[in-house]
Amino acid sequence: MSFVERLRAERDLPDEELKTLLETDRFDEELHKTADEVRQSVYGKAVYLRGLIEFTNYCKNDCYYCGIRKSNKAERYRLTKRQILDCCAQGYALGYKTFVLQGGEDPFFTDDVLCDIIAAIRSLYSDCAITLSIGERSEESYRLFFESGANRFLLRHETADENHYSVLHPAVMSLSNRKQCLFNLKEIGYQVGTGFMVGSPYQTTRNIISDLRFMQSLSPDMIGIGPFIPAKGTPFEHFPNGSVELTLRLISVLRLMFPHALIPATTALGTLHPQGRELGLKAGANVVMPNLSPVEYRGKYTIYNNKICTGEESAQCKDCLKRRIESAGYEISDSVGNVKRETVK
Ligand code: 5AD
Ligand code: FES
Repeated sequence: MSFVERLRAERDLPDEELKTLLETDRFDEELHKTADEVRQSVYGKAVYLRGLIEFTNYCKNDCYYCGIRKSNKAERYRLTKRQILDCCAQGYALGYKTFVLQGGEDPFFTDDVLCDIIAAIRSLYSDCAITLSIGERSEESYRLFFESGANRFLLRHETADENHYSVLHPAVMSLSNRKQCLFNLKEIGYQVGTGFMVGSPYQTTRNIISDLRFMQSLSPDMIGIGPFIPAKGTPFEHFPNGSVELTLRLISVLRLMFPHALIPATTALGTLHPQGRELGLKAGANVVMPNLSPVEYRGKYTIYNNKICTGEESAQCKDCLKRRIESAGYEISDSVGNVKRETVK
């Protein structure tokens, strides 16, 4: 059996074999083809859309890679509850059944403020999922959000290697706290997503293997990866882009290791390659996250340079994505798109 066949059968490979697989393009064709077969056996040709609402670009953290880090010069904004609900209304009219509230770690949005917004969305859209992507909070806060109606949470671990984590973040942030947050979220009952950047500064293949091992210990429902893209004004602004090719290879590896995962073809992938998202879908991804933020704010959510879709209205984004998804041979699903978990025998 080939490496790829064994990865499909065992959902795992020893470190040395993963290393070989990740460091050459020799297996790419077989990897992408096999990953697509596995994806189709679990999710068919369905692609799930998640309407992304970037509701604040204030952030109290100072991650070295991120364009909205505290120390970066950026025009800051916050959406009001009314504006957020308007985004949801637009998204619902476009057929979206998941709203992703994403933002920096913004203390303005206290538990009370957020719970009120979540509860309002929940009462208006009982048939939709509410996903939070708001960083690290206490277990108690996560519980309150869940009780208010949120049911999914995205929190990328960013890198599972302690040393590498400390190269990407100031000392006040810790990998152990981030991991603890992820386990807390799972325990509370959220569908949980994690992930990392491909080609972040100083990342090695060994680091990526640690990421895969960490994800095996977490069993995430969602896995988001995208290439690192430098952000103007940050300490890493002169580092090179992550590789599109390696990102696609990793999407396929993730699909084979986690057949049931929801894996987005990310905006970062679409930013570095005109067909990045289509290629992501063909490599095993099954989610796309169109932007629902009001157009006047989109250009301000600049976590990296040259982000796409900042000039488009939400309806244009939907049409554009529909074309792209169908051209890649897949179809938009109108279901809420929960994770399909394996039934334990
Ligand atoms: N390039 C690519 N991805 C980035 N993110 C943050 N900054 C960058 C960047 N410069 C990713 C992080 C974060 C997610 C919301 O965006 O992984 O978790
Ligand atoms: Fe936004 Fe194409 S997806 S314009």
